[in-house]
Amino acid sequence: MSDFLLQRPRRLRRSETIRSMVRENSITPDHLIAPLFVVAGKDQKIAINSMPGQFRFSVDLLAKECQQLFALGIKTVALFPAIDPSLKTSDALESVNPSGLYPDAIKAVKNAVPEMLVMTDVALDPYNSDGHDGLVDSKTGQILNDETLELLTKMAIMQASSGADIIGPSDMMDGRVGAIRDGLDSEGFIDTAIMSYTAKYASAFYGPFRDALDSAPKAGDKKTYQMDPANSREAIKEALLDESEGADFLMVKPGIAYLDIIQTLAHNSTLPIAAYNVSGEYAMVKAAAEKGWVDNDKIMLEMLMAFRRAGADVVLSYFAKEFAQLYSRR
Ligand code: PBG
Repeated sequence: MSDFLLQRPRRLRRSETIRSMVRENSITPDHLIAPLFVVAGKDQKIAINSMPGQFRFSVDLLAKECQQLFALGIKTVALFPAIDPSLKTSDALESVNPSGLYPDAIKAVKNAVPEMLVMTDVALDPYNSDGHDGLVDSKTGQILNDETLELLTKMAIMQASSGADIIGPSDMMDGRVGAIRDGLDSEGFIDTAIMSYTAKYASAFYGPFRDALDSAPKAGDKKTYQMDPANSREAIKEALLDESEGADFLMVKPGIAYLDIIQTLAHNSTLPIAAYNVSGEYAMVKAAAEKGWVDNDKIMLEMLMAFRRAGADVVLSYFAKEFAQLYSRR
């Protein structure tokens, strides 16, 4: 009667026991990096409206948050500074202030949790009064590539000397990975890793993040440096460049709408691949879950697993803490 059904795939789906035996991918707190926002002051934990459950922490509370995260198994954090508007200038010089908010935050986390890995962001947008990741030519409005590299390199060296373990260039200037690697090596930071934002697209999914840092561009958009969402072969070009310039990890950003790019890079590189599950992706889940339209926890687990299935070794996600809490109760 069932001669024609030689294969019955449902046999391997009959129970959780057998499903867990044949499951091809896994996601644990080891795979996650928690992005955290930092603000000046003391005893501050300021909610971010468009990112429910995310905060801007002052340095003292940031250290406490990192202790909690580490205890939950999240062992890497990516720090993003929300800079006071009075310190934002067109030369973005606050980005290399050795006694600024960012170096303070890095040192505080390393002090509080020495084993925690601290990842940083290298781009001028939090410091630049124009809101761009590079310096802006005041006459033409163009983003100045080579002039920006010098500042990015200084920024990376300052972050490394404050204790950062992984430098994250997110600016998309040409040649920045090589410039930063040279700079770090010449100052003796040979063991400081670079996680390059290799395929970073000009995306509307960054909206809530720019609210969190108040860092949206004042004029124009980021399309002359971030990638066109229509392109995938160009991601391989960026990956080959970053590899040859000395990157230790390649990142794809955003994540959920770019799973094909994650897979492409995983197939075309031997470096670990990271994916950034960005602010807009987080905000959409939170908003729909608040309305009762989707199940927050199930969507979170499915999304995080999708990154792993696509080929991401590491996922930066605002869900990191929530996931780790669920995982510890499993
Ligand atoms: C800054 C930077 C951005 C993000 C990470 N680093 C924003 C941007 O490029 O405009 C976005 C992160 C997110 O949306 O979660 N260069």
